[in-house]
Amino acid sequence: MRDLDDWRRWRADQDSRRLGFVPTMGALHAGHAALVRRSLAECEATVVSIFVNPTQFDDPVDLAAYPQVLEADLDLLRGLGVAAVLAPSAEAIYPDGYHYRLSEDSLSRRFCGAHRPGHFDGVLTVVMRLLNLVRPWRAYFGEKDYQQMRLVQGMAEAFFMDVEVIACATERDADGLALSSRNRRLSETQRQLAATLPLALRESRTAEAARQRLESAGFEVDYVADFEQRRLAAVRLGAIRLIDNVPLGLHRHD
Ligand code: PAF
Repeated sequence: MRDLDDWRRWRADQDSRRLGFVPTMGALHAGHAALVRRSLAECEATVVSIFVNPTQFDDPVDLAAYPQVLEADLDLLRGLGVAAVLAPSAEAIYPDGYHYRLSEDSLSRRFCGAHRPGHFDGVLTVVMRLLNLVRPWRAYFGEKDYQQMRLVQGMAEAFFMDVEVIACATERDADGLALSSRNRRLSETQRQLAATLPLALRESRTAEAARQRLESAGFEVDYVADFEQRRLAAVRLGAIRLIDNVPLGLHRHD
């Protein structure tokens, strides 16, 4: 559904059904499918949003290059059995022109936030708007975007929101690379190299050692940092930015 009046009519018909919600920016992959399956298993009906949110992109080139494959996404979601897909326009989501926005001034300024000014304001603002439209019982977020997931949990708590934010484990390819819509923009050589990211995070004794290993392998490293018993990182391969994190307990202590 693109039109918000259609959306509101559909939502009004759901009465007290316990809705699960998976917000996405499209270009769906098995990681999104896992979030949708979990929602389908736990909730009475599942809603997915597809909205490439312009306000969370600090780099217009990245926004322009973001893969958009709406028909393929809708096919996948139909196959999975979701009850509704909300795919609004930017004008519909931002009738105020983004003059009203949400910000968090602590965690959002660290890690990814330190390298992408305004990114988490955009994320939190769009998630709040989508949650207000969908009014779900539960909302599902991947742990791959660990900082995002923690900020959304914090926002829900801080604003007494009537939604449970569920964190879901990261889905990975066979070589360990976390699934991401951005992976499809990697060249074959970059794709092979990208698998070093989770390995370096897991196998290095310290965050600094992981940074050094990644830099020697040819990544440009935005940050590697330990936070809440996890090791978080963002790196660049050419124009493509990849993020990942692993639980610290899995590190080899050699
Ligand atoms: O993780 C994403 O895909 C986006 O940041 C989200 C949560 C859909 C908000 O635009």
